[in-house]
Amino acid sequence: MAVVVVTNRIPESGMAKLRAEHEVRAWEHEECISREEALRLVAGADAVLTLLTERVDGEFLDAAGPQLKVVANVAVGYNNIDVAACEARGVIATNTPRVLTETTADTAFGLMLMVTRRFGEGERIIRSQTPWQWGMFYLLGMGLQGKTIGIVGMGQIGIAMARRAKAFGMSIVYADDYDPPAAAVEGLDARKVSLDELFATADVVSLHCPYLPSTHHLVDEARLRSMKRTAYLVNSARGPIVDEEALVAALRAGEIAGAGLDVFEKEPAVHPGLLELENVVLLPHLGSATTETRAAMADLAADNALAVLRGDAPLTPVTKL
Ligand code: DGY
Repeated sequence: MAVVVVTNRIPESGMAKLRAEHEVRAWEHEECISREEALRLVAGADAVLTLLTERVDGEFLDAAGPQLKVVANVAVGYNNIDVAACEARGVIATNTPRVLTETTADTAFGLMLMVTRRFGEGERIIRSQTPWQWGMFYLLGMGLQGKTIGIVGMGQIGIAMARRAKAFGMSIVYADDYDPPAAAVEGLDARKVSLDELFATADVVSLHCPYLPSTHHLVDEARLRSMKRTAYLVNSARGPIVDEEALVAALRAGEIAGAGLDVFEKEPAVHPGLLELENVVLLPHLGSATTETRAAMADLAADNALAVLRGDAPLTPVTKL
């Protein structure tokens, strides 16, 4: 029997899989584990399940000890994991792709609808009991039909966003270093363009790329200025892909029409400038937040850890070993 440490609460189905085969030590509290407690809890673990709120670096891996075989992140994004540090120690790291694709695309699409149709503003008016009256020109937004969405990062979630956009009658352009599988984009009439062209022509720019050193502040002052003044930015990927300071300035100056954000540069902190702006929709990182998807994520992370502990190949590794 190996020792599996789970550093935060995860759905019971994943826990049950782990408990059926191994001794499980888990952080059971509602609030996130602190760094100190995480370093204490992982000591002696053969496998660790982590959330995106844990920083898995050399210190974390060394605190676990040399017997550690696998870190299974319960998230598709793994910018919280120092992959090189894992590889240097012979530790396999895994993530949870595919199981959250549709849910996260739903969130991004929801943000796009909310911000372009001003639903957040409308809701705030009702809730604050501000007097209002139906009017021909009251709270007009931008229709999506016939508009162009620019998808940055045409991976699984980007493609799922494109499918939704197509169903809404939008044209699709995308930018990516890689080409998506032809079958996955069949029928979307999606056109690959440069980032420069995408930002200059899209009516909505939606970010679906991973957060890497090369995508840090990909959306900076210059990119924001290159967007149409009528265009919107949607970010459901990772906060630091956008220079939040520059975004606030661009929104204040009317350089873009609005933004829908599920993620923030210094999460959970939100730039105070964003809070003051009506043309911004803000969600607390709800991308994959459905009961079904979170259970599927926990299951996949558990399956990854269990496979490695059995001596089998992990299902969805991110390390090269
Ligand atoms: C992820 O998985 O990377 C999301 O941000 C949370 O589900």
